[in-house]
Amino acid sequence: MKALDNVSLTVKKGEIHGLIGETGCGKSVTSLTTLGLLDNNAIIRGGNILYKGVDLLELKEKTLRKEVRGNEISMIFQNPSTSLNPVYTAGEQIRESIVLYQSNDKEEAQRLVLDELDRVKLPDPEDVYEKYPHELSGGMMQRIMIAMMLACNSNLLIADEPTTALDVSIQAQFLKVLEELKEKENLSILYITHDMAVISEICDVVTVMYGGQIAETANVHDIFNNPRHPYTKGLIHSVPGVKLNIEEFETIPGTVPRLINPPSGCRFHPRCEYAQKICKEKKPSLEHIDKDHFVACYFWEEVK
Ligand SMILES: Nc1ncnc2c1ncn2[C@@H]1O[C@H](COP(=O)(O)OP(=O)(O)OP(=O)(O)O)[C@@H](O)[C@H]1O
Ligand SMILES: [Mg+2]
Repeated sequence: MKALDNVSLTVKKGEIHGLIGETGCGKSVTSLTTLGLLDNNAIIRGGNILYKGVDLLELKEKTLRKEVRGNEISMIFQNPSTSLNPVYTAGEQIRESIVLYQSNDKEEAQRLVLDELDRVKLPDPEDVYEKYPHELSGGMMQRIMIAMMLACNSNLLIADEPTTALDVSIQAQFLKVLEELKEKENLSILYITHDMAVISEICDVVTVMYGGQIAETANVHDIFNNPRHPYTKGLIHSVPGVKLNIEEFETIPGTVPRLINPPSGCRFHPRCEYAQKICKEKKPSLEHIDKDHFVACYFWEEVK
């Protein structure tokens, strides 16, 4: 099965780049590939992943682990319960990041952990410090992950649905923390979500994926006000509330393609109101149509 096909995107320094698409379209596989965390049965047939000019695909696992993951690039996973270590308490896990990246002094590290727990608004930090992952709720674990990420002081954060287990007010606080990190520390963020409201709130640039491929990339204003891929247009129209000039409420007919046997040509053609013969026959390439606007559709000029 080809989970990703010709995916190409760039996250600039100090930019929040949103990656959006329906379930199963390849968002998590894209982020795991970036950090060399795919399962052993996965094969990367070509391409490169450049970070500060270095191709991460060329690095050895040991170098990735020691010098890249958690250090240069940190990640918040979609499912926090699988990424915390069950045999260490929450506090010990955050302390490990602090000892690695901020302070070797044991007492100071302990105090910094409590500060981080407080910063992610966990009630009773001393108590949480001593808790093992199985004693914490999903939302609490996600906040521990966020605290660990904050402790790393990394330059690029990949956040895969980081707020799914959080309630709305905590989500808002978290988004604010990310915006502050971007402004103050020039942190770059790849923010993966299906939530268009979050995208419109914090992202500078947005990439829309469909069936393991990129459909469109543009700045957030154009994604909402001048979408050129029929799928992007459908996504925006299916979200109530995030209007930005959008009046209707629609959902896209049909379902996400199965990647074991994807549709020929443009993978979106079976669901597309603009589709013609060529869309079934030949895959459209990602075309540069304006300054920072790219779209993979033969009929982008007709999309209204
Ligand atoms: N370890 C794996 N082995 C085989 N196939 C996988 C594996 N992980 C993901 N896939 C497949 O790759 C495709 C993309 O999955 P991915 O997890 O990237 O989707 P996603 O866009 O993150 O979806 P969601 O929004 O539900 O998180 C899916 O068809 C999925 O079944
Ligand atoms: Mg995912």
